[in-house]
Amino acid sequence: MFEAFDRSGTGSSKWARAGAGRIALGLADMDLPGPPAIGAALAARARHGAFGYTVCDPGGRRLVADWYRRRHAVEIDPDWVMLLPFGPRTAVRLLLEAAAPGSPVVFGSPEWGGFGQLCRAAGLPHREVPFVRDAEGYRLPLAEFAWPRPGVVLVSSPHNPSGQLWRHSEIRALAELAAESGGLLVSDEVHGDLTHPDAGTRHPVAVAVAGAAARHTVTLNSVGKTFNTSGIPSCFALVPDEGLRERLTAVMAGHGLWEGGLLEQLVQQAALAEGEAWLDGLLDHLTAARELAVAALGGAVSVRPQASYLMWLDGAALGRAAGLEAGVPPERLRERLLTERDVELSDGSEFGRAGHGGLRMNYALPLNRLRLALTRLTCAERL
Ligand SMILES: Cc1ncc(COP(=O)(O)O)c(C=O)c1O
Repeated sequence: MFEAFDRSGTGSSKWARAGAGRIALGLADMDLPGPPAIGAALAARARHGAFGYTVCDPGGRRLVADWYRRRHAVEIDPDWVMLLPFGPRTAVRLLLEAAAPGSPVVFGSPEWGGFGQLCRAAGLPHREVPFVRDAEGYRLPLAEFAWPRPGVVLVSSPHNPSGQLWRHSEIRALAELAAESGGLLVSDEVHGDLTHPDAGTRHPVAVAVAGAAARHTVTLNSVGKTFNTSGIPSCFALVPDEGLRERLTAVMAGHGLWEGGLLEQLVQQAALAEGEAWLDGLLDHLTAARELAVAALGGAVSVRPQASYLMWLDGAALGRAAGLEAGVPPERLRERLLTERDVELSDGSEFGRAGHGGLRMNYALPLNRLRLALTRLTCAERL
């Protein structure tokens, strides 16, 4: 199911960015086919021929609640669920508008790139706090997050670019911090359903671990990363605060957006109702792919991923693993690997201020292609 897959001719932005003949390990989507149920649902709907405006099907909210019960052992009220007809990036931007217009935003770095970009685009004061490193990986510097009193705290959980899970106590503390200042924690959990079976701990769903601060959280998720459907933008948000749901609905209306668009509902429902067995297979595949990559890249792996398909690499160590001469400037490394090894990675500068010197590698591809990419990167004869 996860072997020999060709995306050429499909307009993939990941492959377009890498260029012909290169193996694209940059952008965060998968070179793997999604669940057959999604294609079947789209094909069946396409045969109808009329594609007018749609209403929001409340059954979609129940599917999300059932999903959280089955996959995360978390009870949520279907009324909290907002079914959004745009991707998570747009959702964060509109939440910033709806939650606390003009108030300061804080988030950790390195980050997936969107938080800084969205705050700049919205003209919001924001603080990018470097994560702390310890032997296990990154930690949230909670005291740093508390100043200045944030209107909105943003966290990518699990963490993109490293695939690390945050501790439940850390997410709870962020929610409490947001609650203390009457603000909001937006926990962007679009990689949460991709938690690896051997992660050793559960992914902390913000609304569930926040306790009394739950009303000050938005848990954002999407089938886009989980089921490889980001080309049909959609996401869903768990918003326990009814007032915030109303404000977000009003902000959306101001942009001509409403809950429950045609294609995104179709895709979301097919994925959540019928995609679970496929997802379990995918997680086994990603675990095997992660092991291959860790074995090949060794000390260049900054943090061992516990979720998703993204690996955060130390540029200097990767340069050594690749057999490049010492002292290649970090900003030249991606280019060197692209042109000399025909492998495209994402450069650390895309990931906020603390991203400098790192590179991100996407390992969601058939294992034979991944082996080839790792061989090219390390110049190893055989892996
Ligand atoms: C953590 C996180 N949030 C949000 C997004 C944005 O997703 P989209 O561009 O599909 O809205 C991404 C995409 O990589 C992501 O990794």
